[in-house]
Amino acid sequence: MTLPAALSSRLAIPAIVAPMFLVSGPDLVVACCTAGLLGTFPALNQRTTEGFEQWLEEIAARLTAVPRAAPFGVNLIVHKSNTRLDADLARIVAHKVPLVITSLGAVSEVVRAVQSYGGLVLHDVISTRHAEKAVSAGVDGLIAVCAGAGGHAGTLSPFALVSEIRTFFDGPLALAGAITQGRHIAAARVMGADLGYIGSHFIVAEESLASDAQKAMMLDARAADVVYTDRVTGVNANFLAPSLAAATLPDMHGALSIAEEARAWKSIWSAGQGVGTACAVRPAAEICAALVSEYQAAKGIVL
Ligand SMILES: Cc1cc2nc3c(=O)[nH]c(=O)nc-3n(C[C@H](O)[C@H](O)[C@H](O)COP(=O)(O)O)c2cc1C
Repeated sequence: MTLPAALSSRLAIPAIVAPMFLVSGPDLVVACCTAGLLGTFPALNQRTTEGFEQWLEEIAARLTAVPRAAPFGVNLIVHKSNTRLDADLARIVAHKVPLVITSLGAVSEVVRAVQSYGGLVLHDVISTRHAEKAVSAGVDGLIAVCAGAGGHAGTLSPFALVSEIRTFFDGPLALAGAITQGRHIAAARVMGADLGYIGSHFIVAEESLASDAQKAMMLDARAADVVYTDRVTGVNANFLAPSLAAATLPDMHGALSIAEEARAWKSIWSAGQGVGTACAVRPAAEICAALVSEYQAAKGIVL
């Protein structure tokens, strides 16, 4: 594994529980880190920078009490529409957040600020061109967001994107897109990635902030119910078809503000093509334990 030992030695399995808008909060992060998976949340899941800082303090305090907890991470949207970027980054530096996941922009000043205290930056990409730009900006690692992922997924096959990235980058690489089982994480590693990056599978965790209705729709859905469209926010993302059918789509007028984006994502629910394997609402600890035992079993076969 090409992850620095400070991170890898503290993970039960090579997996990151991905940040999800309006879904991930302190309870989910703490439960995943306690189980040995690297839990994360988007800074924008709190409405203000002050609220974001409170979550950082709460998570750090709760994890201090846990022996052998995995480190945690925060997602920063690096884009001009994110008017909180500088303030949130300052809190990240002050609290020395172990991992920062940047989305949209790979900006070297942001990367350097995180690296200044020993933090790591992983940047998520859907194309080789974006991966090259992020490496030039000095990021520590990449997340290849491939076809079938929840949120702003890509359209490339994981075989294609991982292989192209590996022609010029041998640092930490996580793979995202419909990963829901331990054997998928093992498969990602066989394919050339270091870590599995898992989002939608945790929407049905008891600790997720998703509504009961959203969790119920997840349990009913299959891959064919996932629609890839730019009609919701102007950027292509995967959404559950029944939630699209029930909603009024917003008028698109260029990039959405944070508030408009939140309104859209509140009633139109994103999920990746891995939905078909969600079987019950259950504690995150159970979901993590299943991933750990499945990964160990699969490792014996393929790695
Ligand atoms: C409901 C939902 C919200 C998401 N919100 C964010 C986000 O705020 N920031 C981000 O970087 N990625 C976000 N994502 C993408 C995930 O971080 C991750 O890339 C994706 O879920 C991985 O694919 P999977 O869902 O098939 O496991 C979101 C995904 C979902 C399903």
